Amino acid sequence: MHLAGVVSTRKITYAQKTWSPSDSISDSTCCRYHAWRIFAGFITGQPANAETRLAEKIAKEIIAACPLADPADKAARDACGQKLGSSKLLMNSTAIPVLWGTQPKVGDFNLKTNRSTTKFHPLVMWRVYLSVFMFTGDYKIEQVGNQASGYQTVIHLPYQYRNKLDMGEYPYPYWHSKKKWDAFQYSPEVNVIVEQGKVAGLIRAAERDRSRPYVNHEWDGRWHWTGAAGEQEPRVTLYKYLFSESNPYVAQLDTAYRTLDTESRKYSCQTCHNPGNPSLMAPLGIMEYPNQALSIRHRIVKVMEANRMPPAGVVSKADQQELIPAGIADEAERQKYLKIAREFAELGDKALAYEGQPLN
Ligand code: HEC
Repeated sequence: MHLAGVVSTRKITYAQKTWSPSDSISDSTCCRYHAWRIFAGFITGQPANAETRLAEKIAKEIIAACPLADPADKAARDACGQKLGSSKLLMNSTAIPVLWGTQPKVGDFNLKTNRSTTKFHPLVMWRVYLSVFMFTGDYKIEQVGNQASGYQTVIHLPYQYRNKLDMGEYPYPYWHSKKKWDAFQYSPEVNVIVEQGKVAGLIRAAERDRSRPYVNHEWDGRWHWTGAAGEQEPRVTLYKYLFSESNPYVAQLDTAYRTLDTESRKYSCQTCHNPGNPSLMAPLGIMEYPNQALSIRHRIVKVMEANRMPPAGVVSKADQQELIPAGIADEAERQKYLKIAREFAELGDKALAYEGQPLN
């Protein structure tokens, strides 16, 4: 049954804040500006403001791209990802990077204080990550927030999870953490968070419905493996899955990534920048997989220009503790790393530009 979108009126009391459009907007009046932005619709007597209308369009676009199907249907997933990834609406209304994570508690939509998020290029988010979800057709939009957390327009999208796909169809083995894998299957909805007119992040709602269908997987400790036909898995992490077949940069970008990956292992970058996130960075930037590394390609160059990574650490030797400073100590090695990182970032730009995707 397709319910019409319900525009929540729960927070309409904000409209009682008085704001005159003739008041000047300055940095010091940030919060009045927010109030104006959100409630302009009410002031001009329209039923909904621009951000709510945008949220409705986004909800409908996502629902139309990814209808309910058999949870084992790989072709349905691929079709959903293709539609989401090529949507001009989503492309133009998503922040770069966009954040993806779990809601810490019911009612909390604040991405700034959410410690569970990972950064993605929007194409990776829509094409590879969101496409594992199938949407029921219902949606609800509400406006939340306060002066401290900022104001958000939240799209509630109930979903069914494609939990019967082959293991290489998931962005990574989510079952490395049972809590995470369970969350994908038991959470009833995805919340798309629109802030300042852009999708700033998406979270899996904190509620758990344990009556939902469940598939169990055990992790064997590997982030990568080889499939039965000799292919690299997870296959959906590869550039040839992300980009169109005609994209001429895919092979070069893959080589550039492999070179960076090998060089980065010398400095243990991936021991922290992997989905397990042992150093609890938030938001997390992942280097372990080709598609995910795209989101931080320019930041990798920046941190190595400043020689800031790997971070400073302490090692214990005999009775003494030795401080290891941040960065790559050998200047020639740092320059070598930088050259490789720049090459990767530039090819990433070219491949994305070919797809008409925004850079950054
Ligand atoms: C011991 C764990 C650890 C290792 C090893 C490590 N990082 Fe990081 N990295 C972090 C943490 C924690 C942060 C977030 C805090 C910060 O920015 O300092 C971070 C942040 C970053 C960022 C984002 C910074 C920004 O401002 O956007 C990049 C890019 C990065 N690391 C790249 C690297 C690279 C490249 C290597 C290897 C040469 C590396 N890291 C090795 C823990 C690590």
